Amino acid sequence: MQYLQINGGKKLSGEVSISGAKNAALPLIALTLLSKNSVNLKNIPDVADIKTLSKLLENLGSTCEFLGKNELKIDTSKVHSTMANYDIVRKMRASILVLGPLLSRFGHCEVSLPGGCAIGQRPIDLHLSALEKMGANISIKQGYVVATAKNGLKGAKIVFDKITVTGSENIVMAAALAKGQTHLINVAKEPEVVQVCEVLAAAGVKISGIGTDELIIEGTDRELLNVSDFSVISDRIEAGTYLCAGAITNSKISIKNANAQHLSAVLLKLEQMGFGFEISDEKITLLPAKTIKPCEIVTTEYPGFPTDMQAQFMALSLVADGVSVIDERLFENRFMHVSELARMGADIRLNGHIASVYGGKPLNSADVMATDLRASSALVLAALVASGTSKVHRIYHLDRGYENLEEKFKALGADVLRRNDG
Ligand code: UD1
Repeated sequence: MQYLQINGGKKLSGEVSISGAKNAALPLIALTLLSKNSVNLKNIPDVADIKTLSKLLENLGSTCEFLGKNELKIDTSKVHSTMANYDIVRKMRASILVLGPLLSRFGHCEVSLPGGCAIGQRPIDLHLSALEKMGANISIKQGYVVATAKNGLKGAKIVFDKITVTGSENIVMAAALAKGQTHLINVAKEPEVVQVCEVLAAAGVKISGIGTDELIIEGTDRELLNVSDFSVISDRIEAGTYLCAGAITNSKISIKNANAQHLSAVLLKLEQMGFGFEISDEKITLLPAKTIKPCEIVTTEYPGFPTDMQAQFMALSLVADGVSVIDERLFENRFMHVSELARMGADIRLNGHIASVYGGKPLNSADVMATDLRASSALVLAALVASGTSKVHRIYHLDRGYENLEEKFKALGADVLRRNDG
């Protein structure tokens, strides 16, 4: 297995280019199941999760062809199966994103239940109850969601009990081919959800309220769409992670191809911690802080502070001058990086979903184990400032979502090497 070897203590400098957003690319790949023509998706990140979903689409009968590293041509016109099997879904929960498109196009599908995952239980009840409201018959058989809607899905009024990102995406895609109008209330407003709506709108689906928490969608009654080629938005979580790398080492670094608007909550926190910014159309430059102040963070839905940046800010809080308080409100078990950070000398005290981070303690190198995608990046960040050589193991978690991770860190001057165990 591969690990990252990181020599800590180096200042960073220079600039790094941000890739396309994994969490936007995934629903957009699933969206191609609604298209009658083949679609070229540009700015696709070259990460494992994208390959997993492409594989799933291929298993259904689509052709997925990479035109270079970052462009994917998908043709779903020959899809012959509506069964998303366990072998793939278990690798990546986001596979559930094929549920809405398959059901609305074919009137039936069987998608393996994703099950729990390291960061929490993560149910999909809201996806299922919304589809039931649209006329689907749903049962769980041998670990599969078996969904049928013989005469297609029908528009309905749906109020999401909780804000769910992939749930919103699934139902928006289902509504696009439903019969009649779907009125969605309490929809997620994440930029990734917005891009799904925009691509559908560009394909002729009438959607009002894009970017708000209330959408009205006129379905095409199972008429497939003419989806145009498009470019995936840039990854706000990858961008935030590199800004945190600059911040934890208190260095001046720049990120290119990032959208500052999508990063408002992250930039605000960094500013409150003492960092400055120069923002232009081309790049965001992080300026070092005189003193790194502690922070208070509550994770919440967009445009609030993203849970996917919580672990990275926890690492950053380790070098702050004082006690930071981080309240994780979205996932019940998203503090697994705490015990690994403790192996490097971090002083973090947990009380339920609240972590108090006592900053300013010396960090030492250690062997640490990645537990999930974002937790792993917190370990890499901490290793950048720990004295000595750390090893971050199980980096397949990082490879799920960070393109060219070690190349990008090296470009910033970090001493990072990918190595093989044994
Ligand atoms: C997506 C992101 C993930 C991010 C998360 C929150 C993708 C592929 N993944 O995950 O990186 O951390 O948003 O921003 O885009 N919930 C229910 N029932 C449901 C669905 C969700 O109770 O049917 C709960 C979840 O357990 C969680 C909260 O709602 O507490 C938000 O989850 P959700 O927005 O659905 O996360 P994902 O879409 O899975």
